[in-house]
Amino acid sequence: MKLTSQRSTLRQVKADAVAVLIPENKSSFEKEIGNLRKYFKRRIDKIIEMEQFKGKKAEIVGFFTDGAIATPRILLVGMGEEQKLTLEQYRRSAAAAAKMAAEFHAKSLAILLPVGTGKGISDSQLGMALAEGTWLSQYVFDKYITTKEDKKDKVKELIIITDDASREKTMRKVLHETRIICEAACLARDLANAPPNEIYPESLAAIARRSAAAYGYRALVWDKPRIEQMKFGGLLAVNAGSNRPPRFIILEHNAAQKKFKTVVLVGKGVTFDAGGISIKAAGGMSEMKMDMSGAAAVIGTMEAAARLELPVHLVGLIPATENLLGGSAMKPGDIITHFGGKTSEVDNTDAEGRLILADALAYASTFKPAAVIDLATLTGACVVALGQHATGMMGTGDTVMADLKEAGEKTFERVWQLPLFEEYEKQIKSDIADVKNVGGRWAGAITAALFLKKFIGEYPWVHLDIAGTAILEESQPYAPKGGSGVGVRLLVEYLKSVKAE
Ligand code: BES
Ligand code: ZN
Ligand code: ZN
Repeated sequence: MKLTSQRSTLRQVKADAVAVLIPENKSSFEKEIGNLRKYFKRRIDKIIEMEQFKGKKAEIVGFFTDGAIATPRILLVGMGEEQKLTLEQYRRSAAAAAKMAAEFHAKSLAILLPVGTGKGISDSQLGMALAEGTWLSQYVFDKYITTKEDKKDKVKELIIITDDASREKTMRKVLHETRIICEAACLARDLANAPPNEIYPESLAAIARRSAAAYGYRALVWDKPRIEQMKFGGLLAVNAGSNRPPRFIILEHNAAQKKFKTVVLVGKGVTFDAGGISIKAAGGMSEMKMDMSGAAAVIGTMEAAARLELPVHLVGLIPATENLLGGSAMKPGDIITHFGGKTSEVDNTDAEGRLILADALAYASTFKPAAVIDLATLTGACVVALGQHATGMMGTGDTVMADLKEAGEKTFERVWQLPLFEEYEKQIKSDIADVKNVGGRWAGAITAALFLKKFIGEYPWVHLDIAGTAILEESQPYAPKGGSGVGVRLLVEYLKSVKAE
């Protein structure tokens, strides 16, 4: 998508459609409609009366301008009450406008930059929200659809217009940043949505390598012999049932910069999770191609951090494997020795994510990080607890968790903390190894996190269970069903708040 800003007025702007955001408060509503009356005369009153448009949230009316202004279509977008305006409302309104414009076969959409923003919303935040809503709402995974008629029309250009030169300059700057973030989020979506015969450990590593080469960050990929040499027992055990070899991907931005804090991101990269010998039910199993959404978020975030030149030493670690059931597959009852020497008893081969993350979390210590954040589509239990609207957050790093909470509110990739009370620990106690990989029926998201906690080093750690938020069963205002790309916007926002030492 092309993102531009223009110093222009509603009358002059050249686009296929133009959107005007209208609050429901009487005086503002009257003022906006008054403006439109200059061009549309009494027709505007007829239209809003006929459509019963009141400026409420989710209302949207489109009509033909018939030469009254340069743009052929205008969209009136209801914003709700002014005092309650949030960034998320701007994202959703832009998304609604873009969707309607696309239905009109518009290729370019202009949005008139509103004058009175919500409380505490800066112009750059506003510009970013409008562009994110537009861009992310137009995402479709259609690369395998070969018939033109089956491809949906999309808006290909957003033009934010204002008649104020300094606001236009602000837009230009923020749109550059927004492009990078949206491209990274859509890369994460593409990786998740791609079929498992396209994305498997080797191809995932190749994509990470390509991104690193394109944007100037470092990529190191371990093959199976190296993983064996490093004694990553969890990754090797999960991989044992698969014909495709595993990979361990190490990404690094600002590797040589001693002055920056080190933050390590760890992403679960199970490119297909059949469950292993503890095989999953057939219904909906194809969704498990997205069990590498944590890895996708890490690759997207690394790419964005490098392009935005964020002042942080950022490391991305991705253990990548399929979880299948070949003749040499890991079995319930197996005991694994992980990197660092701790052992785990496999009670259920479908609880594989924690086995591969254990190696990576133990290995993360070697970077002496100021914080480690892992992202994983780890448990169905987290989806039961929080559904599709909040990522489960657990960990030991209280400051990092507070910062992530704030970043989550801003980006609307919200996180919700679950407790790691020690009383839950006995559920994963093993009689024959250091820990058992499942903890029974209750509090499954928590016992999974407590398993991970056994393997962390001396660093503040946060675990994000994105099982519900990364894999959407239904569409959301600016995300179709399927891979949501969750984590990229959240982490970029969080990383912006990490200060140099
Ligand atoms: N990848 C799944 C978790 C998952 C489930 C992600 C639904 C997204 C949507 C994970 O590997 C898994 O299978 N977990 C098991 C753990 C159980 C065996 C303790 C689960 O949640 O059922
Ligand atoms: Zn599983
Ligand atoms: Zn899994």
